[in-house]
Amino acid sequence: MIIAVDGPAASGKGTLAAGLARHYGLPYLDTGLLYRAVGLAVTSQEDSAEFKQAAIAAARALRAEQLTDTAELTSAGAGVMASKVAVIGPVRQALFDYQRDFATQPGGAVLDGRDIGTKICPDADVKLFIQADSKARMERRARQLEARGLEVDRYALYHQIEERDARDMLNPHGGFYAADDAHLLDTTLLGIEAALRAAIAIVDSTMALKAGH
Ligand code: C5P
Repeated sequence: MIIAVDGPAASGKGTLAAGLARHYGLPYLDTGLLYRAVGLAVTSQEDSAEFKQAAIAAARALRAEQLTDTAELTSAGAGVMASKVAVIGPVRQALFDYQRDFATQPGGAVLDGRDIGTKICPDADVKLFIQADSKARMERRARQLEARGLEVDRYALYHQIEERDARDMLNPHGGFYAADDAHLLDTTLLGIEAALRAAIAIVDSTMALKAGH
């Protein structure tokens, strides 16, 4: 079973996707980490004329070991850098095979990102599109960062999330919208447990329907 979980920054999709993977005993890939790792690899070249080429080279050279330092990868700055390399078509192409191979491993997988249901796994068994309003998303991300002992400027964080949303929405290579056959789940007013229960109910009923029950 392949489960695709898409949604904007800090919508709760990562927590839900990881919870679904645990519940169904499936491997899980946070595809945002791929873009974040590429973004971090070229941060020092952000203002140079070679930025685009450097990002393409970094995407082609990406190794699984670069995805393990999650503290650095999940920083707000890495998220902004990720959205800058994510608008480069050849970067997306270079990361496509990695994601597709992960999704199609025997037994299936859970992947979360922006274009999983539309581009990476248009054939996924279940597609979820997670939404939450911008203020709720900012507050969640702020608490995650504070739990790591980091000081958070909420105004700056809100601005970063909005900036990232805008760049993502205008991404010409995107597909960052809910697939026609995606189930929408708004988590603005839901805690983690309630959101996970709702997501499991969607997966179970979709699979039951497919099986003809
Ligand atoms: O999901 P996360 O916030 O970690 O993603 C960071 C950035 O990486 C996103 O804002 C988006 O620009 C990019 N991304 C993408 N396609 C994906 C996952 C992430 O373009 N499948």
